[in-house]
Amino acid sequence: MASHEHKINHLDQPYYGPPIPPPTDPAPTGIERRDAYTLFCLAFRVLTLVLIALGVVVLVLWLVYQPTRLKAYVDSASLTRFDLVDNGTRLQFNLTVGVSIRNPNRKQAVLYRRLEAVALYGGEQFGYVDLPQMRQERKSTTEIRPSFQGQAPGAGVVVALFGREKEDGFFNINVKLHTRVCLKFIIVNSVEYRPDVDCYIRVPDPTNATAMAHGFAPTQCHVDDFS
Ligand SMILES: *[C@@H]1O[C@H](CO)[C@@H](O)[C@H](O)[C@H]1NC(C)=O
Ligand SMILES: *[C@@H]1O[C@H](CO)[C@@H](O)[C@H](O)[C@H]1NC(C)=O
Ligand SMILES: *[C@@H]1O[C@H](CO)[C@@H](O)[C@H](O)[C@H]1NC(C)=O
Repeated sequence: MASHEHKINHLDQPYYGPPIPPPTDPAPTGIERRDAYTLFCLAFRVLTLVLIALGVVVLVLWLVYQPTRLKAYVDSASLTRFDLVDNGTRLQFNLTVGVSIRNPNRKQAVLYRRLEAVALYGGEQFGYVDLPQMRQERKSTTEIRPSFQGQAPGAGVVVALFGREKEDGFFNINVKLHTRVCLKFIIVNSVEYRPDVDCYIRVPDPTNATAMAHGFAPTQCHVDDFS
């Protein structure tokens, strides 16, 4: 209370002292604060511009190096067993195919997040293999060897087809690869694509010496675009 009164008294008195210099204390801190703020804004603006420029560069590079689709071939097929047993109700099979997949892209590596192979006969799936995840470098070829072994129920349509093709000496088998892949471009991962690989192979009947002598002809597969 006392100091309050003292202050009021002090203010009431006229001032005859030297002129009060303009307040020097608050001004610099204001300027400093403004400087810091300006600097922060500038840094933020520069950072934003750098990020945008980087994005544009990656986008332009991506457009220049549009990914081209993978290429796939069935190089080899070894069918050691393909029989209808139990009066045509079950199909016994032992098939190993060598599939080479080519990544023709100069800038994108391919990350296979999921890779599964299925084998079909007469439109009926009889074999399934889950293959491990893998990474495929730019401009490289990878060989995978899914092996289908076991038995599957044989449907009526398969029995008729089997009879015809047994006489012919060659079985027409469809091998498909279902994939989930990402493209790694510089440091950026693309969205996920699901290009399917579709191979129609003509494999000699292992019990037919004439057909076996003919052998297996390497076959190109159809591969979906990255889209
Ligand atoms: C095999 O199937 C045929 C018709 O599909 C039938 O006539 C025959 O009796 C069957 N044989 C045996 C041993 O089950
Ligand atoms: C399938 O064939 C391979 C040789 O090609 C053999 O090593 C393997 O034991 C066979 N599997 C079955 C289930 O018959
Ligand atoms: C064996 O295959 C040949 C074709 O390579 C075919 O002409 C022949 O009929 C087949 N033989 C048998 C016993 O199925």
